[in-house]
Amino acid sequence: MSVGIVGLGYVGLPLAVAFAEAGEDVIGVDVDAGRVAALSDGRSPIEDIPSERLAAVVDRIEFTTRAVNLHQAEAILVCVPTPLNRNREPDLGPLLGAAQTLAGVLARRQLVVLESTTFPGTTREHLVPLLEESGLVAGEDFALAFSPERVDPGRTDFTLRNTPKIVGGLTPACTERALEVYGRVCEALVPVSTPEVAELAKLLENIFRSVNIALVNELAILADRMGIDIWEVVDAAATKPFGFMRFEPGPGMGGHCLPVDPFYLAWKAREYDMSTEFIELAGKVNKQMPYFCLEKIERALNDAGRPVRGSRILIVGVSYKAGVGDLREAPALKIIELLRERGGDIAYHDPHVPELPELGLRHSELGGECDLAVIVTAHPGVDHGAVVERSPAVLDLRGVTRALRAEKVQQL
Ligand SMILES: NC(=O)c1ccc[n+]([C@@H]2O[C@H](COP(=O)([O-])OP(=O)(O)OC[C@H]3O[C@@H](n4cnc5c(N)ncnc54)[C@H](O)[C@@H]3O)[C@@H](O)[C@H]2O)c1
Repeated sequence: MSVGIVGLGYVGLPLAVAFAEAGEDVIGVDVDAGRVAALSDGRSPIEDIPSERLAAVVDRIEFTTRAVNLHQAEAILVCVPTPLNRNREPDLGPLLGAAQTLAGVLARRQLVVLESTTFPGTTREHLVPLLEESGLVAGEDFALAFSPERVDPGRTDFTLRNTPKIVGGLTPACTERALEVYGRVCEALVPVSTPEVAELAKLLENIFRSVNIALVNELAILADRMGIDIWEVVDAAATKPFGFMRFEPGPGMGGHCLPVDPFYLAWKAREYDMSTEFIELAGKVNKQMPYFCLEKIERALNDAGRPVRGSRILIVGVSYKAGVGDLREAPALKIIELLRERGGDIAYHDPHVPELPELGLRHSELGGECDLAVIVTAHPGVDHGAVVERSPAVLDLRGVTRALRAEKVQQL
C-alpha cells in the first residue's frame, strides 16, 4: 500500500518526504513535468526539504505526472494551489482539475484528503460531486476528509510532525481513516465533526494573523506620525504575560496564504448576505504598507538631499519572509516597482533569491555603491550590521538594526 500526494509544492513535498521517512511508499503526482524530473533526480526546489534529505528517501517515492499511478494508493492527499483570479475571487481551477483527474483513477476503499486552504463547503459541495463521477459514493465506497496544512515554511521548531493536525471527515468513519493515516507522521491529531469545521478553522488561523498584522501596521503608521518608536511600543506591550500576543509591523503581507486565503472566505460569505469587514479592512491596511514604505524611502532620501530619480537604492531581502526564497506576493516586489516608476536605480541583496528575471535583476553582494539601503526582509544569514556599516543611509523596515542605535538608520 502507498500514499499518493497530488501537488508537490511547499505543502505536498514535505508531506511526501515525511511519509517516505516513516517507511511508506509514496506516489507524488504533479502537472509540472520539470518539477517531477528535478525531484526524481533528488533535487528539491524547496528550502525546507534540502536535496540531501530528499535523496535519502527518493527510492521510496515515485515522482510522476501520471495520475493513473494513484490507482494503487491507499490514501491520496491533495495539495494543489488555491489562488485568486484577476478579480480577486477564488480560482478553484487547479483543485477542480485535480478532482476530475482523480475521478478517473479512484478505487474502492481509497481515502482522499484535501489539504489546500479553501472556503467552507469546498470538500462537500465541489469535491464530492466531481469524485462521485467515478461511480463510487463518497463516505461509502471511498472515504473523504479535509485536513488543513499548517506548515510555516522556514520554521524548524514546529514541523509537520509536532504541529497538531486537524482532521474533519465527511462521516465519522472517514475521520477515523484519515486519523489513522496522519497518525503515521503526526504526533497530535485533532478530529473535528465535519470538513466545514476544519476548512473554517484554517481560515480563522490565517485571518487572525492577517488582522493582527494589519492592526500593528496601522499603529506603526500612526506612531510614525506621532514620533513614537513602534518597536519599543510592541516590546513593552509584549511584556504582558496574558491577553496579548506579539505581532511585528512590516512592509506588508506576502506568500501564498495571508494575502489570498481570507478572501476565499470573504467571497463565500457573500452567499450568506455577509460582508466580512475585518477581512477586507485587514487586506486594505496591509496592501497600503508598501506605499507607506515608499513614503519612508522618499523621506530618507530627502534627508540626504536626493530625489528617488537617479538614486541607487539597495533592497536587502526580497522574498516575502525571512529564511525562504518564496517571492509570491512579496511586498519588496511592489516597493521595487513603485521606486522604478519614480526613476530609482534598484539593486538587491538576497542570498535566497539568485535572480529576479522579470525585473532584469540579479542578487548583488553587499558593499556595492548605494545611496540608501532598505531592509525589507531580514534573513537570518544576512549581516545587517555590515549593511549599516557599508551604506550611507539605511531604512530598516524590520527593526533588526535597532540595537546598533546608528544615526544613519531610520526605521519603520
Ligand atoms: N505554502 C504554505 O506555506 C502553505 C501553508 C499552508 C497551506 N497552504 C495551502 O496549500 C496549498 C498548496 O500550496 P503550496 O504552497 O504547496 O503551493 P505550490 O504552488 O508550492 O505547489 C502546488 C503544486 O501543485 C501543482 N499542481 C497544480 N495543479 C495541479 C493538478 N491539477 N494536479 C497535480 N498537481 C498540480 C503545481 O505544479 C505545484 O507544484 C494551497 O491551498 C495553500 O493555500 C500553503
